[in-house]
Amino acid sequence: MLKPWSFLAMVWYQLTFKPQPLSDDIRLDGLTAIVMGANVGLGFEAAKELASHGLSRLILAILVWQLDQESWASMVAFARRVSTELDRLDIVLLNAGLKRLEFTRSPTGHEAHIQINHLGTALLSLLLVEPLRLTAQQTVKPSRMTITASSVAFAAPVQDILKPKGGKGIIPWLDDPASFNPDDSRYCLSKLLDVFWTRALAARLDPTDIILNTLNPGYCKSAFHRVDVTAEWASSFLAWTSAEGGYHLTDAVVRHPDSHGEYLSEQRIRPVPSIVLSAKGNATQKRLWDETIALFKAECPDADIE
Ligand SMILES: NC(=O)c1ccc[n+]([C@@H]2O[C@H](COP(=O)([O-])OP(=O)(O)OC[C@H]3O[C@@H](n4cnc5c(N)ncnc54)[C@H](OP(=O)(O)O)[C@@H]3O)[C@@H](O)[C@H]2O)c1
Repeated sequence: MLKPWSFLAMVWYQLTFKPQPLSDDIRLDGLTAIVMGANVGLGFEAAKELASHGLSRLILAILVWQLDQESWASMVAFARRVSTELDRLDIVLLNAGLKRLEFTRSPTGHEAHIQINHLGTALLSLLLVEPLRLTAQQTVKPSRMTITASSVAFAAPVQDILKPKGGKGIIPWLDDPASFNPDDSRYCLSKLLDVFWTRALAARLDPTDIILNTLNPGYCKSAFHRVDVTAEWASSFLAWTSAEGGYHLTDAVVRHPDSHGEYLSEQRIRPVPSIVLSAKGNATQKRLWDETIALFKAECPDADIE
């Protein structure tokens, strides 16, 4: 549940900001892009918009190339296919995500938001670095990667990850049903993990090779809110269209060359809350990185994460 101040901020920008598509002079001829979560919703709209700007090849990761972010094997196979079948990769939109109001586990054993929104996104971000970097070296131009987060990240119960209970790590604590509240706070936390992950990975990438950013696409009409009666109801008068949500995705992944490691909202770079930048936030970011890498080495050795 959003706190009053973040709810009011959200209402304000939803009512006053008008999302814009890419301008007609932006051309993507010759480029290859992958959009995750592109069979419906914002990803579908973003894929259509990228295609309309002349993209040479667009991989819709679900419909055309099978990808399941709840399966390590599926993600590793997807990345191998990228490396063997694509001669270049310029743009990656890591956009797949889900919201549930009850605790569920993925087949990997992790809580579903943690698996799909954090671990799946994080693993793919690592596996696609090399093809993006190779293309940047060929084109002498940075490739682009964007992770879809949300402004609800900053309404998350951040104490759950700053200081997980019982001396547990962040991921083991969030995998524990005792940490789960039957509301949308787990979804919010998973989006905060996206912000921390983007910042942690960006710090390890050279922005002349890959510009990595994250964004809030705004509150948009899509099937996403079907599990949440209140959010679904409010979307009828407050939400933007899926196409307008898609405009945010394409804006983040095509424009803003100065956005490496940054968070965008309303199609511009916005500050993240001070807790993210604080000493505690930095320690949490490091811990999340270390735990996530250790988990991939243990549970998904085929990914060869170093
Ligand atoms: N709509 C909003 O108001 C809003 C606001 C802020 C942020 N966002 C974020 O925007 C992104 C897109 O949301 P949306 O509104 O377009 O929702 P959506 O219509 O429900 O689309 C979600 C996409 O994620 C894919 N996905 C879910 N689980 C997956 C898995 N295990 N493996 C691979 N793909 C999976 C879905 O594929 P299937 O259809 O095959 O499951 C679908 O393509 C999400 O990350 C969401 O958190 C949305």
